[in-house]
Amino acid sequence: MDDEESAQAVRSALEGGYRLVDTASSYENERGVGRGLLDSGVDRAAVFLTTKLRGADHGYQGARRGLTASLDRLGVDYVDLLLIHWPLPSLGLFVETFRSMVEMTAEGLIRAVGVSNFTLAHIDTLIDRVGVVPAVNQLEISPLMARGAERASLARLGILAEAWSPLGSRHGLPDERVVRTVSATRERTPAQIILRWHVQQGIAAVPRSKDPQRQAANLSVFDFTLTDGEMDALGALDRGYADTVDADQHVEY
Ligand SMILES: NC(=O)c1ccc[n+]([C@@H]2O[C@H](COP(=O)([O-])OP(=O)(O)OC[C@H]3O[C@@H](n4cnc5c(N)ncnc54)[C@H](OP(=O)(O)O)[C@@H]3O)[C@@H](O)[C@H]2O)c1
Repeated sequence: MDDEESAQAVRSALEGGYRLVDTASSYENERGVGRGLLDSGVDRAAVFLTTKLRGADHGYQGARRGLTASLDRLGVDYVDLLLIHWPLPSLGLFVETFRSMVEMTAEGLIRAVGVSNFTLAHIDTLIDRVGVVPAVNQLEISPLMARGAERASLARLGILAEAWSPLGSRHGLPDERVVRTVSATRERTPAQIILRWHVQQGIAAVPRSKDPQRQAANLSVFDFTLTDGEMDALGALDRGYADTVDADQHVEY
């Protein structure tokens, strides 16, 4: 979404009851997100605001420069969660980036530090070298890319798994027969079935929609429970796509 779309979407989402907003420096829409936050009239302290450091802002000084610029564009004094968007191991800077983020936490500029698209090996390196466990690893997670073993390892470390592209639209997930069947049986939309699959396993999902009606529907997943059989049927969709993710993609970010 561009700034204009983001301002409208964030405003309508907050008005409709959302309290978590996920953006990134590389999305080039932080100004719009900040405007939407302001226009909604919702108290800043009631909103959980996440942004992410882009590749160009890796490194000890880069992280500080990147966060300062994000805070300025968002029009806020702090973010609730700052993520390293991609580990970009070819740059060899994610440890220093994380160290800098931890320091900025002590200064009150960030409430929690996390990562995105990190493998367990990258996370082990961070913990060994910096001595701080990231609060969150944001990954592509959906029934098609369930990452069960990886999520169990994250849970053992006390790291919350957060799902990007939770609806799996790029991979045709809403049109999968089992999703359609459960959707028809439960009289819920395919998106609601998929998001309920996340919620029921303690995965924090960040679905994106610029449409107020779809936003409302996507939020309405806390008043029903999928049966074990339905969860198993959705679980059978797992195709292990996660194995194909390249930690260095988006190095240009
Ligand atoms: N960390 C990372 O590397 C990373 C990567 C990708 C994304 N993300 C984050 O994850 C968020 C979500 O990921 P995403 O945007 O790729 O995928 P997504 O949320 O799974 O899907 C978004 C798409 O689904 C449509 N949609 C939403 N609700 C729908 C519904 N109820 N029925 C039908 N269509 C619906 C939206 O269209 P409409 O707007 O028209 O409703 C949009 O085209 C992003 O906004 C971003 O914050 C992070």
